[in-house]
Amino acid sequence: MKLKFSLLTALSAALLAAGCSTSPRSSQYDPETEKKIENLLGQMTLEEKIGQTNQLSCYFVPEEMAQVLRSGAVGSVLNALTPEVANQLQRYAVEESRLGIPIIISRDVIHGYKTVFPIPLGQAATFDPELVEQGARAAAVEATAAGIRWTFSPMLDIARDPRWGRIAEGSGEDPYLTTVMGAAMTRGYQGNGIGDPTCMAACAKHFVGYGAAEGGRDYNSTNIPERLLRNVYLPPFEESVRNCGAMTVMTSFNDNDGVPSTANSWLLKQVLRDEWGFDGMVVTDWNSAGELIAHGFAADEADAARLSLTAGVDMDMMSHTYFNHIADLIRDGKVSEKQLDDAVRNILRLKFRLGLFDNPYVDPELSTRVNYCEEHLAAARRCALESAVLLQNENRVLPFDPSKIKRLLVTGPLADAPYEQMGTWTFDGEASHTVTPLAALRETYGDRIQIDYEPVLAYSRDTATPAELAALTARAARADAVLVVVGEEAILSGEAHCLGDLNLQGSQRELMAAARRSGKPVATIIMAGRPLTIAEDLKNTDALLYAFHPGTMGGPALVDLLFGVASPSGKTPVTFPMVVGQIPIHYNHNMTGRPAAGTETLLKDTPVGAGQTSLGCTSFLLDAGFHPLYPFGYGLSYTTFEYDEIALDKQEYAADDTIRVSFRLSNTGDRDATEVAQLYVRDLVGSITRPVKELKAFARIDLKAGESRRVEFELPVGQLAFWGLDMQKRVEPGAFQLWVAGDSNSGEPIPFNVK
Ligand code: NOJ
Repeated sequence: MKLKFSLLTALSAALLAAGCSTSPRSSQYDPETEKKIENLLGQMTLEEKIGQTNQLSCYFVPEEMAQVLRSGAVGSVLNALTPEVANQLQRYAVEESRLGIPIIISRDVIHGYKTVFPIPLGQAATFDPELVEQGARAAAVEATAAGIRWTFSPMLDIARDPRWGRIAEGSGEDPYLTTVMGAAMTRGYQGNGIGDPTCMAACAKHFVGYGAAEGGRDYNSTNIPERLLRNVYLPPFEESVRNCGAMTVMTSFNDNDGVPSTANSWLLKQVLRDEWGFDGMVVTDWNSAGELIAHGFAADEADAARLSLTAGVDMDMMSHTYFNHIADLIRDGKVSEKQLDDAVRNILRLKFRLGLFDNPYVDPELSTRVNYCEEHLAAARRCALESAVLLQNENRVLPFDPSKIKRLLVTGPLADAPYEQMGTWTFDGEASHTVTPLAALRETYGDRIQIDYEPVLAYSRDTATPAELAALTARAARADAVLVVVGEEAILSGEAHCLGDLNLQGSQRELMAAARRSGKPVATIIMAGRPLTIAEDLKNTDALLYAFHPGTMGGPALVDLLFGVASPSGKTPVTFPMVVGQIPIHYNHNMTGRPAAGTETLLKDTPVGAGQTSLGCTSFLLDAGFHPLYPFGYGLSYTTFEYDEIALDKQEYAADDTIRVSFRLSNTGDRDATEVAQLYVRDLVGSITRPVKELKAFARIDLKAGESRRVEFELPVGQLAFWGLDMQKRVEPGAFQLWVAGDSNSGEPIPFNVK
């Protein structure tokens, strides 16, 4: 077993080198394809070239798109909804346009197509990249059957601010976890790559920094200096495009340090193309070329097209600025035809790589065979199961014992809300195929347990009267246990759905309190798109399972956890703040000159008229302290785990060594379960201040009740490299510390040196 875990964890730790070996960019280069591109380009008129750079949304019936497609005025169509429509659009382009260049059909397939998996933040909570890859594969198989060959995913934005609604769509706050999960999704979408009809081009987005939007308000400015960009925000993109062969990249809406990404040639040329060798295609976000005008960065549409094309953007999504202005810009000598040709080369290369020239059509029958197939539903269920995080379990009320519960009261607006539990970015998944916790309870335990259902609130923002709450308390008192399912409707997170208040909405807190007043054991599930500020709600429940919107199979998965068919194993992919005022808050912050010690005098203990001094003061909030509610990487189980005998194979390592960390992990409880073991490091002294901890590896380890096992992590010393003061990436020799633990706030440091 040791070997197994060594390999597994080495894979995790050494992912930057090995994780995406299935489709490295270098293997995509094909001189034959390049010849075909040049041959085709040589035959294209200026208008046809410009047409390739134009991406349009299929708002209307296919017949109305016939003319633009026949004239070659469009290179890509977003949102064609059925295989029949996809085929029809392709026919116009392939059979009725002069050069017969196929279009590429794209869509936001973000966490599943028909079979909806947990939102990406929930997928990250599994710490299970293999499963995440399976999810992306399932999405690709279903979506490509509908003719969709390009998804706008994975979202690789690091998000340290849960007010930002799009935190739901990424892997949270950690660069390493986001890198691993982004790589898994990229692999999953693209499958076997070139020649695979189920290969759906991935789109690494949003390039870059979008998740650092000021104040958590979507589309807002970011101010990320180059070093921070390179150390935190760029690595997931580098991995996805450089080592996993992500075929496309999308520019972000934000301006960083005053330069909108869509016009940032340093980013798109120097970093993406020159440093990383990207030869795929760059697309704008929706109208982000046009929005250069609103940014005050471009004077008008022509200027916007000039700036974007010159910066290295190949395809314009929906601003029409390329279509309307590039010909004039070339005629006026403001951009060169060579710039346009380069963009068209990148677009054609994508189409050749996807095999669209050979087979642009889909079998209209295929969808019915792959959508919601058993394999996809099983993977979605497992993903939902692994993504739920147990945050509290007082009195061990969970798991419920079905032989002891005769009557269970189920309440709350998300207990039976099939659409809401699918979460943000669900365009294609259907509520009718979604299984809620209530439905799963009835299905699995309805013959043994009387299941009472009283939602009280129709949706998460709904309010209840005191009489309704009192009635709920009375009804709960007649049950043996209560299950409360609260959280956020799908529309409360995702794009443009940012919040300033992260408490449970509506009367949900009161509902939890009403259930609590019954005196019966209470278990609560929160389904949400972000970490909410739930410190106050914890006292109103014995147990709390946090399920980031869990998707189609959320119900059965959660019911399995409630009744102990499996033990929870999810871990928080993001820090849970106590209060909004702590935001931004993330575990891997830099070492400050005055770190909080945890012994600070808080507001409530500060005497009136206290003398003022800055001596001995530290970095914390008077009213909210320093600690979050839950740290990154945290999650309970129905069992307990112990880490001991943690040892390094050496005290000192050379830059090309691999650190071998072995430890004994014991399941000290009475249930079989899975633990996510995590490895963190701290670089004690650097040429720049360094994070207090950084995740460097993790592994899911299954242990039977009472079982102990030796496990080994392998961490190449090269993984300790960072961009230092001289803006070079290297490992700086010196003293380090390392932790192996079950979350980012546990364990004892072990020292080592790098020479
Ligand atoms: C805007 C979003 O920011 C982006 O993520 C998405 O892919 C596009 N719209 C296309 O829908």
